[in-house]
Amino acid sequence: MSIKSKLVDFFKRKDQVAEGGGEKAVAKQKAMGKLTARDRINALLDENSFFETDLFVKHACQDFNMDKKNLNADGVVTGTGTIFGLPVCVFAQDFTVAGGSLGLMHARKITKLMDHAISKGMPLIGINDSGGARIQEGVNSLAGYGEIFYRNTLASGVIPQISIILGPCAGGAVYSPALTDFVFVVDKISKMFITGPEVIKTVLGEEISMEDLGGARVQTDTTGNAHFFSNSELECFEQVRKLFLYIPWHNKKKADKIKTQPPQDKFDIEKVIPTDSKKPYDIRDVIRAISDDSDFFEIQEHWAQNIVIGFARFDGETVGIVGNQPLVMAGVLDVDSSDKAARFIRYCDAFNIPLLTLVDIPGYLPGVDQEHAGVIRHGAKILYSYSEATVPKITLILRKAYGGGYIAMCSRHLGADFVFAWPTAEIAVMGPEGAANIIFRNEINNSSDPEATRKQKVQEYSDKFANPYVAASNGHVDSVINPEETRDNILHALKVCANKKDTQIERKHGIAPF
Ligand code: HXC
Repeated sequence: MSIKSKLVDFFKRKDQVAEGGGEKAVAKQKAMGKLTARDRINALLDENSFFETDLFVKHACQDFNMDKKNLNADGVVTGTGTIFGLPVCVFAQDFTVAGGSLGLMHARKITKLMDHAISKGMPLIGINDSGGARIQEGVNSLAGYGEIFYRNTLASGVIPQISIILGPCAGGAVYSPALTDFVFVVDKISKMFITGPEVIKTVLGEEISMEDLGGARVQTDTTGNAHFFSNSELECFEQVRKLFLYIPWHNKKKADKIKTQPPQDKFDIEKVIPTDSKKPYDIRDVIRAISDDSDFFEIQEHWAQNIVIGFARFDGETVGIVGNQPLVMAGVLDVDSSDKAARFIRYCDAFNIPLLTLVDIPGYLPGVDQEHAGVIRHGAKILYSYSEATVPKITLILRKAYGGGYIAMCSRHLGADFVFAWPTAEIAVMGPEGAANIIFRNEINNSSDPEATRKQKVQEYSDKFANPYVAASNGHVDSVINPEETRDNILHALKVCANKKDTQIERKHGIAPF
C-alpha cells in the first residue's frame, strides 16, 4: 500500500470511529437534548485542546453475536486536553454506542487514563452516560467496574476527580461517581440510582419515574449525592471550569493565586446580622462581605442547608469556608450537615486549602429521629475531620457557640490555629434560658413569683456566659475582634499560617467514623 493510500485508509478509519453509534443513534441522543460524547468534551475543554487516545480499541466479547458488532471506540471517548491551559484527563461515555454500556475494554480505556492521571498528577474528569454493565459481557464488565472503583480509591486525595452525570448512571456504576470528589448533574438529563423503577415495581410493587427516583433535583436536594446542579449541559461545563479556578491540580500543589479585589464596602456588622440574637440571617452575606470580590462559590447549595460550604478567596488565595447557616434550622448540626461539612473539610485538607470556619450554632439537633439516624456516628465525623486536618484552620465565632457545636466547629481544642470572636459571641454549654431552667430549677419553682425569678436567673446566666470574655480569659479564644477588622484579622492569620507544618503520629491511617 502506498503512503498516500495508508493515509486515506487512516482517515477513513478515524472518521468511521468518530461516527459513534451512527446517524440514527446520534439523532436520538440529540432529540433527548443531549450532546454527543466528543461535543461534550470539546465544550468542556479549552478550544481545540482535546487529544484523543485509544480511538481504535475494540471490545473483546465473542458471545451473543457480539463478535459481529463493531462498537466504535467501545462506547467511551478518552484522552487529554487542557482547562485554563493546564492538562486534564477526560473520558466521556458514548450512549450512541451500545447505550454507553461498560464492557472490559471500555473499562480498560478508562483505567488506563486513570493510571495516566495519577502518575502525572492530572485531574480526572468522567462524563457518565451509560446503561451500566454491558449485559453480554457478564462478569467481565463487573471486573471492569471493580478496576475503576479501585483506582478511584487510590486516586482519592491525590488528584481531583470530577464526575459529570449526563444520562443514566445506574446500578453499581454509581459508585465510581460516589468515590469521586465532586458530582455535577443537569436537570432532566441526569439519572442516578442503584435499582431502577422496574426492579422497584417488581420487588416492592411501587411505581416511580426515573426522574422522581434519581433525577438531578433528587440528587442535589434530597440525597446530597450531587454537589452542583445546572439547567443545561453547557451551563454545567461552565460550572466545572469555574471549580477548577479554586482547586489545585494535585495534592502536592496549592491552588493558584488569582488577582482579586477586596470587597467594595467597608464591613458593617449591623448590615449583616440582626440585633436580636434569636433572629436568623444569611451567613452567605457575611462571607460575601469579607471575601475578595465579594465572591463565594457554594458547594451542595441545595442539601443540608443548615450548613454552608464552599470556596472564597482572601488576597487571591483559595480558602474553604464552613459556616453554620442561622437561616435554616437555626444552623444546628444534624446527620446530613455533619456529613456535608466533614467530607468538605477532608477535601480541603487533602488539597492544601486553608479552612475558615464561621460559627453561629445552638448545638446538635435534638430528637428521636436524629438519635435513631445515628447523629452520634455522623456528628463524630466532623470532630474527626477537623482534628485530623493539618491545613491552616481559622475560626470566627459570630454569635452562638453552644455545647457540642462549640467544640465541633473547629474550636481551639480541635487544633484551630486562630480563634477569633466578635463581641456578639455567646460561648456556653447551652443557651441562657435552658441553662437557667436546669441549674436554678428549685429556686424558680420555690419562688413566690417563679416567672420573675426565672427571668432574673436567665439574665444572671446571660451576664456570666453570653459573651466571648470567659472563653477569651481562658485562652480558648485568641482574640475578641472589632468586626470591622474581620478581614484584616483573617488575612493576618493566613499569612502567619502560610508555612504551617503539622506533624502527625506515625500510623497507617486512622479509623474515621464513616
Ligand atoms: C448492553 C445496553 C445496555 C446494557 C443499554 N443497552 N443498556 N446494551 N448492556 N447494560 C443498549 C440497548 O440494548 C440499545 O441497543 C441501546 O443501548 C440504547 O438503549 P435503549 O434502551 O434503546 O435506550 P433508552 O430507551 O434511552 O433507555 C436507556 C436505559 C435502558 C434506561 C439505560 O437501556 C436500560 O434500562 N438499560 C439497561 C440498564 C441496566 O439494567 N443495566 C445493568 C445495570 S446493573 P440497540 O442495539 O437496540 O440500539 C449494573 C451492575 C454494575 O450496571 C455493577 C457494578 C459493580
